[in-house]
Amino acid sequence: MSSEVRIGPCGQALVFIPMPAMDSLQFSITDVVDPYNCTSNPATGLTSPTTGIVSEYRRPQPLANLPFLTSIMWDGREPSLASQASDAVLIHAQSAAPPVADQIDQIIQFESALFAAQTYDNAAGDLTADGAQGGSVALSAIPFVSNINPPGPSFNPSTMTMFFNWNNSPDANKASIARGQNIFNEKSFAITGVAGLNDVTGKSSIPGTCSACHNTPQVGNHSSSEFLDLGIATAPAAMAGGTSLSLADLPVFTVHCESGPFAGTDRQVTDLRRALITGQCADIGKVKTALLRNLAARPPYFHNGSAPDLATVVAFYDDRFQIGLTDQEKADLVAFLATL
Ligand code: HEC
Repeated sequence: MSSEVRIGPCGQALVFIPMPAMDSLQFSITDVVDPYNCTSNPATGLTSPTTGIVSEYRRPQPLANLPFLTSIMWDGREPSLASQASDAVLIHAQSAAPPVADQIDQIIQFESALFAAQTYDNAAGDLTADGAQGGSVALSAIPFVSNINPPGPSFNPSTMTMFFNWNNSPDANKASIARGQNIFNEKSFAITGVAGLNDVTGKSSIPGTCSACHNTPQVGNHSSSEFLDLGIATAPAAMAGGTSLSLADLPVFTVHCESGPFAGTDRQVTDLRRALITGQCADIGKVKTALLRNLAARPPYFHNGSAPDLATVVAFYDDRFQIGLTDQEKADLVAFLATL
């Protein structure tokens, strides 16, 4: 399936994904409000509500910190770095022949040795000063195995500890970053309405912090392969916090669920996300929990770039989960995220 994803004439930062050709496909696309006419034009897009190609607008992700990944691509469509490399050679580079095993090994060795993190902060200075452990050198030495910090009795919510030594620093900027780190680990709120979490556990409200989902120590993606829907692809911005995000220039798909547990329901989303891989209505809008290093260098945020800066990300979460952050706490959290 993944090998059919291709870059096409509609251009822009988009992926073209075919409707899943499977008997168990649970949905049809009954309407597209399509500012770019890519999905709505049968030459480049859908040929019927259940066949053809869907164009979606997603940010490329950093080609770094790959040893920590538990899912490859936002929707997890590539099962391994080897398949990703092979597909990229065939599709993006348009090679007539797939790379041989030795070439794939070399690509994986090269890309797996790349680590990216903030090393310097304009206000706080060197992110390794006074016992702090920011920067890509420290990051490259962090051990990782899949599911290293699973939810449950042994879960450690203190996933970020790089700036522990800056707690109560006499330098106001360092102290702010350390407070932001503590908010990330410790500020608890009620996690509600997250498909892939609340529905799967059968708990309509789960107390947790930022690290409940961003739980790989010092890295911040989910330490196991899980896909969640916070509502960021929900159109037209119909969820709490949605008004702070810019979704206006994205297409809106009306998806009708024909079979399965959601049969008879409709969803409006800007991106079907994992559902285009599995064909399941339960996966509409789900993506992996993003990795949080090197954030300052790569706005805008979220899979669709709907948050132009880190302040908007924090404002979104504050509204979405009614966290009740003060202006100082928001500023501290932004200062911390910008050092990752
Ligand atoms: C319920 C799980 C969950 C919780 C709780 C959570 N996140 Fe996220 N986070 C995600 C998912 C899933 C994504 C990817 C969403 C998308 O792009 O559509 C994400 C994306 C992000 C991104 C964007 C990364 C990028 O590369 O674009 C940032 C920054 C972020 N989260 C910070 C936070 C902070 C700060 C908190 C606490 C206030 C928090 N998150 C709480 C699941 C969660």
